[in-house]
Amino acid sequence: MIRLAVFGSPIRQSSSPAIHGMFAEQCGLDVDYQAIEATAESFAGLLQALAAQGGRGCNVTVPLKKQAWQLAQRASLSAQRAQAANTLVFESDNDWYADNTDGRGLVQDLSGNLGQPIRASRICIIGAGGAAAGILGDLLAQEPKCITIANRTLERARELQQTFSTSLDAPAAETSEPGPTPVPVVSAISLDDLGIATPFDLVINATSLGHETRHPGLPETIFLPGSLCYDLNYGAAAEPLRAFCGEMGISYEDGLGMLVEQAALSFELWTGRSPETAPVLRVLRQL
Ligand code: ATR
Repeated sequence: MIRLAVFGSPIRQSSSPAIHGMFAEQCGLDVDYQAIEATAESFAGLLQALAAQGGRGCNVTVPLKKQAWQLAQRASLSAQRAQAANTLVFESDNDWYADNTDGRGLVQDLSGNLGQPIRASRICIIGAGGAAAGILGDLLAQEPKCITIANRTLERARELQQTFSTSLDAPAAETSEPGPTPVPVVSAISLDDLGIATPFDLVINATSLGHETRHPGLPETIFLPGSLCYDLNYGAAAEPLRAFCGEMGISYEDGLGMLVEQAALSFELWTGRSPETAPVLRVLRQL
């Protein structure tokens, strides 16, 4: 029996037990995956209890991702750059490995499932909180032309820009001539100034507004005819932006595919098995 869990608050509505249940069935593995409500105060003790019971690892969600990264002895580059972990692997009593599969899950959904090119594309991330930090490093690794972080609080966008900028002086690639791969330019702007920005190929909503049944009110001018608006939200939280994009005729995808892809990457870390995601995503879409 492989013992796993997801920790967070609120956790009752989490789809993770269902997703990992389907992965386990596919792979013929005996998995016990529990959803456990945890606060900042109770989290460390609950983790230790799971590890002591022979747990193989866990997922971690809001608001505990930063704490999960801090509690681990080792961390992947994705987790280090995001300063947050959505996955822990208990290698031994004193060796907890932290990873953040959110960004790789997003990349897999965009390029694998949706056929959305990332390389050489112009990307805008709306929001500069934990969700944005969790995807930036893995998006940059795909060598987009540029990433603009647009946030209500400009200072937070600038902090993220600084954390993730490999070279702010590198010019954006304006030609398709062969040569060395240009370094993607990361910039930060205020959400209020988005109306004067050049259009983007991909706009990613990483704000928490969907949870208040709201959307960021994006200016139409940032979209080109072929642009995609990708929402990290799914379920009810995705509905406001989905409706907005529908009214404006903008292509829209919610984050359910990313949810399944990040889960598959976590499952692989714990079990060494790589489950098929398409059938699981089909089932979730029907729920
Ligand atoms: P998460 O970990 O889910 O990213 P977070 O760190 O609280 O949560 O970040 C939420 C993001 O949504 C932030 O970018 C936040 O903008 P601020 O940095 O200005 O707070 C954004 N957000 C929340 N409410 C918003 C609103 N009413 N208008 C615009 N952006 C909002």
